[in-house]
Parts: sequence; structure tokens; C-alpha cells
Amino acid sequence: MKLLELRKSLKQQFNQLGIDEVDADFIIASVLKVNATELNLIDEISNEEMSTIKFVAEQRKQHKPLDKILGYKYFYGIRFQTNLDVLSPRQDSEILVETALKYINLNGYKTVLDLCTGSGCLAVAIKRNADVSVSACDVSQKALNVAKNNAYKNNAIINFFRSNMFENVNNKFDLIVSNPPYIATDDIENLPDEVRLYDPIIALDGGNLGLKYYNIIHDNAKKFLNDAGMLIMEIGEDQADLVISLFNDFNFVEKLKDLNGQDRVLVFKK
Ligand SMILES: C[S@@+](CC[C@H](N)C(=O)[O-])C[C@H]1O[C@@H](n2cnc3c(N)ncnc32)[C@H](O)[C@@H]1O
Repeated sequence: MKLLELRKSLKQQFNQLGIDEVDADFIIASVLKVNATELNLIDEISNEEMSTIKFVAEQRKQHKPLDKILGYKYFYGIRFQTNLDVLSPRQDSEILVETALKYINLNGYKTVLDLCTGSGCLAVAIKRNADVSVSACDVSQKALNVAKNNAYKNNAIINFFRSNMFENVNNKFDLIVSNPPYIATDDIENLPDEVRLYDPIIALDGGNLGLKYYNIIHDNAKKFLNDAGMLIMEIGEDQADLVISLFNDFNFVEKLKDLNGQDRVLVFKK
């Protein structure tokens, strides 16, 4: 079959379903094991290649995210395994890593805890880019299995342990980072299929107003932070003011926006 015809047809189908047509080229390129930029150089593909491309594209048409089909996603330039047990790492969270690295360097921090680690993307990205000892926990054993694999594959030595929030945390840290579940329970049904059907509910549901886990972090973080320690958290859109007022007994340091200009990260000092 002519590749150009298949590309056109898939892009048309994706467009009709509101799926970014760029994904058609990503799928074809990953099946043919070439870069998307090299697709223009290919004229014909075999029937077998065509069937595989159609099989993968069919999953994308069910709104399964590309990384959950392919089984990996790049975050902070690092390749992470993803599956249905973990939240797919979001590019929007890279600003949290940037901010953590900034304060690790400025303050000479040596110990970091990643609370609610999921795929381990924050913990691994920090460990790979700073001379710190990193611990990371999650309540989900399945998520921890993925996180451990991601740390192993990326040569990052991290102390992973299972914990319901701070329950099994025994040490104090210079820096605590967290991207907790923060979607308000009432908003979950309105999420795009890509998120609602394929990210674990336990990674999304932040309870009433999405604030359940920020309340837990607020009530416990000081106990687990060293004196000059900091807390860096990801927040949902429109949560900045609520979370800043919840943490009014901490020293507010700064608020950062993501690539889309949305408030995304808050920094507090103990
Ligand atoms: C929004 S995801 C963040 C994952 C990852 N840190 C990231 O930034 O992509 C939230 C994570 O919190 C975990 N989680 C949910 N409830 C928890 C709890 N009670 N204690 C610890 N972790 C919890 C979920 O399993 C999920 O991995």
C-alpha cells in the first residue's frame, strides 16, 4: 500500500474524532521504526506493516493516549515506562522539576522526598540532575512497580516505599515535592476520555474541590521538613489561591506557570 494514502486516511479519521492528526504520523513512525520526519521518504509499506499500523491506530481512535499504547513517554528528556497503573507524566509537570533543581542548587539541599510518586517521573528526573538522595512513595503498589522499573532503567538510585501519604515516612527531608491527585471528584466525569478512561482514578481524585491531599500535606509536611526545608507542589488550574490560603502558616515563596500559562506549581518554606 502507498504510505501517503494511509497517512491521509488516518489523519482524516483522527481529525473527525477530535484527535490530534500528528498522532497518526507518530504511530506510523513508531511501527516502521523511523523518525516522523523520515516518513516522506517512504513510498510503499507491506501488508503486515499496514495491519500493525491499523491495529495501533484503532486503539488511538478509542482515545487511548499514545503513550499508553506505545508503553512509554519522554518526560524531562528521559524515557519512562507508562501503563494503566500510573498517571502518564505530563509536560506541564516539568516546571516542578525545574523549580526543585533551582532550590536544590540555591540552598545546597541533600535530601528529597517525592510524595505520590506514580511513574516516578519527578523522583527520577530530580535524581538524574542533582547530587541528592531521593526517597519516593505512593500508596499504589502497582505504581511503585512501574516507578522502580523507571528508576532502574535510568540508573537512578531511589529509596521507594509504600505509604498512605506520610504514614510510613520516618525521616526529615530538605525538600518535599508532590504532585498529588487534585481533580475535584465532581469534575472527573467531565475529563477527556484520554484521562478519565486511561489514567488510574486513584491518581486523579482529589476529593471535595480537589483539596483532600493538600489538606493532608498541610497538616503533616512541617514534621517531615528540616528547618530550612521547602515544599514544592503541583496544583490544578484555579487552585492557587485556595492552596496558598490553606498553607498560610508556611512562608509562601513563589507561584510558577506551566507552558500553557496556567498556575501550576507553588513553593513554600517551612
Ligand atoms: C497525580 S498522580 C502523580 C504521579 C507522578 N508524581 C507525576 O507527577 O506524574 C498522583 C499519585 O498519587 C498516588 N496516591 C493517591 N492516593 C495516595 C495516598 N493516599 N497516599 C500516597 N499516594 C497516593 C496515586 O497512586 C498517584 O500515583
